[in-house]
Amino acid sequence: MSADVRLGVLGCADIAWRRMLPAAERTPGVCVTAVAGRDQRRTARFAERFSAAAVHDYGELLQRSDIDAVYIALPNSLHHEWACRAVQSGRHVLVEKPMTCCYRHTVELIAQARANRRVLMENVTAQRHTQHEEVELLVAEGRIGTLRSFSAHFGIPPLPAGNIRYRSDLGGGVLLDLGIYTLRAAMRFAGPRLALRGAVLRTDPATGVDMSGAALLASSEGVDAHLSFGFDHDYACGYTLWGSQGSIRAERAVSVPADTRPVLTVSRKGESETVLAAACDQDSVTLAEFADQTRGRGAAAAHQVATLRSARLLDAVRTAARTGAAPLHRRQP
Ligand SMILES: NC(=O)c1ccc[n+]([C@@H]2O[C@H](COP(=O)([O-])OP(=O)(O)OC[C@H]3O[C@@H](n4cnc5c(N)ncnc54)[C@H](OP(=O)(O)O)[C@@H]3O)[C@@H](O)[C@H]2O)c1
Repeated sequence: MSADVRLGVLGCADIAWRRMLPAAERTPGVCVTAVAGRDQRRTARFAERFSAAAVHDYGELLQRSDIDAVYIALPNSLHHEWACRAVQSGRHVLVEKPMTCCYRHTVELIAQARANRRVLMENVTAQRHTQHEEVELLVAEGRIGTLRSFSAHFGIPPLPAGNIRYRSDLGGGVLLDLGIYTLRAAMRFAGPRLALRGAVLRTDPATGVDMSGAALLASSEGVDAHLSFGFDHDYACGYTLWGSQGSIRAERAVSVPADTRPVLTVSRKGESETVLAAACDQDSVTLAEFADQTRGRGAAAAHQVATLRSARLLDAVRTAARTGAAPLHRRQP
């Protein structure tokens, strides 16, 4: 049995408290050894709950000798800097989505990680849920005929003022927060080499961040993808695959509790069937995969290819929304 991957955490973040650090406790081969935060009391509370050491400076955490890997749960605008510093300090890095705020920084960071022979993985746990494999199986069984169209949506009700998602200086905005999930789902089902055909982002003039948006993409195989996302919506996160002979709808596609069996609805010729997908601990699966990669196992490059393709499309959505012109016929490499 290999030794545990000793994880240091940057930022006493909501996602770390509610999901990733409890998941680390459930994941064999991973242990949290230190947590760094700016506020002493808050960091102490965090560290105590997870039986870790409290550190009051992110840089200090990177100097510790009991850290093999770093989990970065900072605001988006800080991912690039701290992931670079962590990789340069010889640590493997699991960084919250989005890996960085733009394609150029993502390319740079991945190159840094490769040069330092460190694992660098973007934490998109929703994609690790096995319900998506069950959907792929239903499609492969011919349940919907040939896939013609994919649509995905992710919306949440308004957040408290001051949330990092409403801060343009911290890389806020709905595209990087929620739109990214719809994009990753589209890449998975409509094909990884999607080209953007058009996009809309509605920006709040008071904060300067995008609050809702939509994108239209198309694959070279003739499948189109319609995505919509927003911060002022009734909570919903789902997708539909619409084929020549039927459709499959997934209603809970992003953060599924570990003990919940997501519902898939398969419709064909006017009849609908409910399929209960298996429960899956998506956060723990992701951490286990990350730990495996640090031990030289797993598909590190494949994950980075997906991260790069999505970063490029996110940039394209921003450009198209700003200029009103989507780059026609531009394909992903
Ligand atoms: N919450 C979710 O459900 C969720 C889900 C998936 C992914 N994510 C990703 O996880 C990351 C964190 O999201 P979150 O919702 O967990 O955010 P959050 O609760 O606001 O946590 C961000 C942390 O970053 C640190 N920080 C450093 N500089 C900061 C600044 N200038 N302003 C505010 N915080 C600062 C703070 O930790 P210290 O004060 O301790 O230093 C803070 O606790 C984001 O990249 C997000 O996309 C979140």
